Amino acid sequence: MTKLKNDRFLRALLRQPVDRTPIWIMRQAGRYLPEYRASRATAGDFMSLCKNTELACEVTMQPLERYPLDAAILFSDILTIPDAMGLGLYFAEGEGPKFHKPLHSAADIEKLEVIDTFSDLSYVTDAVAAIRRELNGRVPLIGFSGSPWTLATYMIEGQSSRDFSRAKTMLYQQPELLHQLLDKLALSVIDYLNAQIASGAQAVQIFDTWGGVLSHAAYREFSLAYMEKIVKGLTTQAEGRQVPVILFTKGGGNWLLAMADTGCQALGLDWTVNIGDARRLVGDRVALQGNMDPAVLRSSPAVIEREAETILQAFGDGSGHIFNLGHGITPDIDPNNVKVLVEAVQSISVC
Ligand code: CP3
Repeated sequence: MTKLKNDRFLRALLRQPVDRTPIWIMRQAGRYLPEYRASRATAGDFMSLCKNTELACEVTMQPLERYPLDAAILFSDILTIPDAMGLGLYFAEGEGPKFHKPLHSAADIEKLEVIDTFSDLSYVTDAVAAIRRELNGRVPLIGFSGSPWTLATYMIEGQSSRDFSRAKTMLYQQPELLHQLLDKLALSVIDYLNAQIASGAQAVQIFDTWGGVLSHAAYREFSLAYMEKIVKGLTTQAEGRQVPVILFTKGGGNWLLAMADTGCQALGLDWTVNIGDARRLVGDRVALQGNMDPAVLRSSPAVIEREAETILQAFGDGSGHIFNLGHGITPDIDPNNVKVLVEAVQSISVC
């Protein structure tokens, strides 16, 4: 294996000393980049882009060619697992993800099978291996998955949702059925992330985009418990290094201590949390990733620099911070503003 030339992202995740705060950006490869839109046009549609090893590799590299980022993230999607389970994922133009066969009945859930990544989702592991070759040790590669609860919301609703009415009805009316689904998803996610690690992912992130819509008690029972099961089932070492796990619950500010107790190495924070307060709360249990409001990138360079500095200062001295946005970058962002952000973090960084 090629030696990693820049490992400050992995070191910060383990709270080991670093020369400066590392930065990467959720959804760093995406529609705000004209070169991404060109690659997607070549592929035809988003899923074809994910399934084409060469193009998935190409778009993963695009943000790294523009900006001195400290990590790459696999180009794929969280909904590959439900697709592999037979739900038939498609993207209707301008409407986000949809399933041809959402889960409508107990029978639909009973017949679902836990995935076997190397046979059902080999396009993902092929992409991981190809990206590692292309990176050639430049920066580490992040693998990822959705959390069981977040995947379940899409599978039950059949698409994105505002109020999660079907998923929440199941949660309160048929909790055992939802647990059956979440259990199959947790086993699938363990297999999926371990296959990504075996193929070359050097850290993994679990996206719990919709954990924050749950009640205080329901979050622990229906989202966190399954993420904990996943963390405990993951390969911890690869290529002679620890493989850190990042848990990101959007709207999860109420549960940071409980999240830290799962055994993960880092927590992703959305922008509603003060990162200094979060650090005082979690102490030396975990590293923290985040947490600038993506909307800041719509403003001027001076505001972007000021906001980045506020977050860096709120975290304070020492390792254990990975700069990121509090959620994914949106398609309307000017790529020059991303450059301003990355350069600001690298010059202000107080490590
Ligand atoms: O971060 C990265 O650059 C890696 C790639 C990545 C994508 N999706 C590519 C993508 C990652 C990590 C994801 C995760 C993902 N996908 C999440 C969790 C993170 C989050 O943002 O909360 C969720 C909920 C999804 C499901 C999903 N996929 C949605 C809701 C959409 C539609 C988004 C929209 O604005 O239309 C997608 C499609 C998707 N996934 C795109 C990209 C670049 C856009 C597809 C396109 O080119 O049209």
